[in-house]
Amino acid sequence: MTDHTDTIPVNEPERQNYYIGKTASLIKNLEAGLGRKLTCYVATFGCQMNARDSEKLLGILKSVGYVETEEERHADLVLMNTCTVRDNANQRVYGRLGVLKGYKQEHPLMHIALCGCMMQEPSVIEKIQKSYPHVDLIFGTHNIYKLAELLYRLLSGQKNVIEILDHAENIVEEIPIERKYPFKSGVNIMFGCDNFCSYCIVPYVRGRERSREMQDILDEISELAKTGVKEVMLLGQNVNSYGKNCEGNPTFAKLLSEAEKIAGIERIRFMTPHPKDLSDDVIAVMRDSKKICRHLHLPLQSGSSRILKLMNRHYTKEQYLDLALKIRNEIPEIAITTDIIVGFPTETEKDIDDTLDVIRKVQFDNAFTFIYSKRTGTPAASMEGQVSEAFVKEQFDRVLALVQEMSKRRAMGMEGQCVNVLVEEINEHDPALLTGRMSNNLLVHFPADPSCIGKILPVRLKECRGFYYLGELQNS
Ligand code: SAH
Ligand code: SF4
Ligand code: F3S
Repeated sequence: MTDHTDTIPVNEPERQNYYIGKTASLIKNLEAGLGRKLTCYVATFGCQMNARDSEKLLGILKSVGYVETEEERHADLVLMNTCTVRDNANQRVYGRLGVLKGYKQEHPLMHIALCGCMMQEPSVIEKIQKSYPHVDLIFGTHNIYKLAELLYRLLSGQKNVIEILDHAENIVEEIPIERKYPFKSGVNIMFGCDNFCSYCIVPYVRGRERSREMQDILDEISELAKTGVKEVMLLGQNVNSYGKNCEGNPTFAKLLSEAEKIAGIERIRFMTPHPKDLSDDVIAVMRDSKKICRHLHLPLQSGSSRILKLMNRHYTKEQYLDLALKIRNEIPEIAITTDIIVGFPTETEKDIDDTLDVIRKVQFDNAFTFIYSKRTGTPAASMEGQVSEAFVKEQFDRVLALVQEMSKRRAMGMEGQCVNVLVEEINEHDPALLTGRMSNNLLVHFPADPSCIGKILPVRLKECRGFYYLGELQNS
């Protein structure tokens, strides 16, 4: 059914704009036959990077004519953007595929599509082809911008469309994006990761580190500001190595200070810096900034220098402590949060004691604690001395208990203060309350009218409930 009368552009984004047009006309025909619009449902697993990718995917789906639905069961296209950082992320996807099989039997027109990090693993593709033949379309992390082209193949009759690229060909700018929130947005500053922490699959599924040109990033932020975005989160797996492949070798500190100048942007966040290259320049820019949020997520992974070496993290316990305490000293009101892995090969109770020591000394405002998950193909997966489940469970509980104690103590210290919050949404559990986010990333729930959503407003912190506050809106 390919139309041979016109030439298909070779360059991007022209090629995808062409396919957006072609797919849109296929969808128009389908709509005419059905007498209704086609609907899509996008489910996102994993990190902020995937969440941002999903906004791009939804942007393309809407521009070819799909309408977003909340009802997965009746959707004409279900797209799952997957994560493979830990095995439980994979298991959730297989679980959903089982459920979707039933939905597809009820609604045979349903197309099921998979993309994201998990799809970059050949063993996953094999398993899906063998055990989940009801999946219609599979693509990976390097070709999400090609969704319109892939859909064109599917909707014009090709069965089981699969396209996985083993590396990124280029960074394609100017693809439509559908933002989840009108007032805040992620902004990719770099893709991929070159760090190869020994436990981590990300460098294998996201490819080599590539930074976007600084001007492209700044232009994107300016555009976002013009459409009402107040808060941006700069995204990358190791943001402080930003700029290595760019013209003029811009630094992350420079990017931050340029972003600060953009009118309309009131808050800047970023995710994730790596402790091994968080420069004094970045700390100075943060300290002197009016817009960079008072929150730093600084993944520790382990407090034991021996384990850190095996993890290929390139810092010791002492170096991490020096860094974290220097930051606390320079920017006293900052919240420092972290990621911790428990159960890395050969880990002993003594190693965990070191982790607990760092938690106590840094007094993390929050920490995500993960049980080590063996990822096939990573160096740690074939290390001697994998630890037992019972040991991990016991040590995990020790870490969690201390993390919770620390974060509660840090949060309580703010009781009575009046802080500016970005009002994000109606509270999930109590529709009379709105939820706002403080500069330090803590949440506060307070009674107010939904018209406040999207504004930055002063809220008095009345009662600490451990990890969040109940508050009261103040007259600004
Ligand atoms: N680039 C970021 C985060 C990447 S993944 C960084 O360097 O910190 C997010 C978190 O998942 C990591 O910080 C780590 O704590 C956790 N993680 C990654 N691989 C894991 C594994 N195999 N098992 C358990 N946790 C893992
Ligand atoms: Fe994974 Fe390490 Fe890269 Fe983070 S820095 S994505 S943990 S390899
Ligand atoms: Fe998961 Fe991929 Fe992010 S593996 S954590 S979605 S980069």
